[in-house]
This record gives sequence, C-alpha cells and structure tokens, in this order.
Amino acid sequence: MTDTNGSPILQVQDLYAGYLDFDILHGVNLDVHPGEIVCVIGPNGAGKSTVFRAVYGLISVRLGHVIFDGAEITNFKPQDVLRSGIAIVPQLRSVFPQMTVHENLEMGMFLEKNKARIAERIDVVYGLFPRLGERSKQQVGTMSGGEQRMLEIGRALLLEPKLLMMDEPSAGLAPSITRQIFNHIRSLNDEIGLTILMIEQNARQGLEVSDRGYVLELGVNTYEGTGQGLIDDPEVRRAFLGGH
Ligand SMILES: Nc1ncnc2c1ncn2[C@@H]1O[C@H](COP(=O)(O)OP(=O)(O)O)[C@@H](O)[C@H]1O
Ligand SMILES: [Mg+2]
Repeated sequence: MTDTNGSPILQVQDLYAGYLDFDILHGVNLDVHPGEIVCVIGPNGAGKSTVFRAVYGLISVRLGHVIFDGAEITNFKPQDVLRSGIAIVPQLRSVFPQMTVHENLEMGMFLEKNKARIAERIDVVYGLFPRLGERSKQQVGTMSGGEQRMLEIGRALLLEPKLLMMDEPSAGLAPSITRQIFNHIRSLNDEIGLTILMIEQNARQGLEVSDRGYVLELGVNTYEGTGQGLIDDPEVRRAFLGGH
C-alpha cells in the first residue's frame, strides 16, 4: 500500500512554532506518503503535541511550511485543515460521556445536512468497528477507555479524511488494550488504505505497527527510518526504547 517513492501527502518543512513568542519547534521536517502509518516518538516535552497543534492550526506556525495534498495549508484554521482532508484524534478524551455511541457519531457529522449520507457514513464506521455497532445505544461514559478511543477514531473517520492524525492513541490505556488499538489501527491501514500520522509516548509498540518513524528531541527531529529500522537502531533503543 505504501509508496515512499511517490510524492508525500503531507510535508512538514522546517517548521518553527511554539507558544507566545517562544519557539518549541526549531525546524521540524517530516513526510507522510499515501497509505503509510508514520509514528513520531520522543521524550515527554520534546514537542510532539506541538507539531500536531501546528499542523492542525491550533497554534500558529512562525516559519516553515505545511503542505497537504499538493496545497499549502500553513496557518489554516482547524476547520479549514479538516476541510482539506485531515481529521484528528486529540490526546485528551473528546467524546461526550452522557451521550450514546450513536449520538456521538451523529455529533461528529453535525456539519452534514444530508440525513442519508449521515446514516451511510455511520454504517461504514460500524462496519469498521463492529463493537461500536453492538453498543450503539450505550452511554459512552459507561464504556471502557479502549472502546471510547475506538469511538474517537471511528468518529474521525466519518468525514472520510485523507489523513488521520492521532496524538497518543495509547494514552491512559492498559498495555493489552493498547495492543488492541494498535492492531485495529494497522487493520484500518490494511483494509481501507488509511493514511495515519500518530504521535506516541509508547515508542516501541507505536513503531511496531508503523511503516516509518521519526524521533523528536528538543523540538528537532534527530532520527528517522522504518519502524523496524528504528527499533533495531542501537542508539534509538538505548535512548528511547528502554535498552536491550
Ligand atoms: N500551552 C502551552 N503553553 C506554553 N508552553 C507549552 C504549552 N504546551 C506545551 N508547552 C511546552 O512545550 C514543550 C513541548 O510540549 P509538548 O509539545 O506537549 O511535548 P510532548 O507532546 O512531546 O510531550 C514543553 O516544554 C511544554 O512545557
Ligand atoms: Mg504530547
């Protein structure tokens, strides 16, 4: 599915961004090709979420470029980034706990006025996540953390994004659940060719399911390679994967 020879769908070029007048990112570069899963790892505070926010227009880019699907989207507002085809799953839980699964999915399509289209997209998501279909009438706050994360991913897919960006999909989940989520991410990539950029604190598991990865340290990317190549790199192992 992956075609690293073709042109990237997302290019982050020499990105400088931060908070107030202080840069956190000092020239970040990364590419995502159609059909790839790309994982950004790095220590806490390295600026991973800041990259995510800068690409999505949640903070402003001071220098550099974000190119998506052949067009410059640098400093687009989040709704315009979304419209251009990037959907996100943020790090903090973003579901409505008082509402049912189905209601949460409907909320995810609040901009769509065509009822048939809404029903059709929700059915597609239930097909991709049968568990959500079984629990469509369940109140979301009563579901497990893993199921809520699946719902967030499903909701992001309602809009048929060309790229899904996720900030720490494993955050707050037990290791066995993290494994399930990552496996599901991998199968979405296999089954529908979903292109994914994810940020992971859980470096080893994130790289295991990814085609390529980048290490971010102190606001610059320091290593890049295939997922397995990074796992096998002695320096990356020692510094970021807990040795051995
Ligand atoms: N809203 C904010 N205002 C000011 N500084 C922030 C804000 N969010 C994050 N930072 C700082 O930016 C740096 C990078 O944070 P972040 O991108 O969240 O790192 P990571 O996701 O890699 O753990 C940290 O030093 C953090 O304290
Ligand atoms: Mg973060």
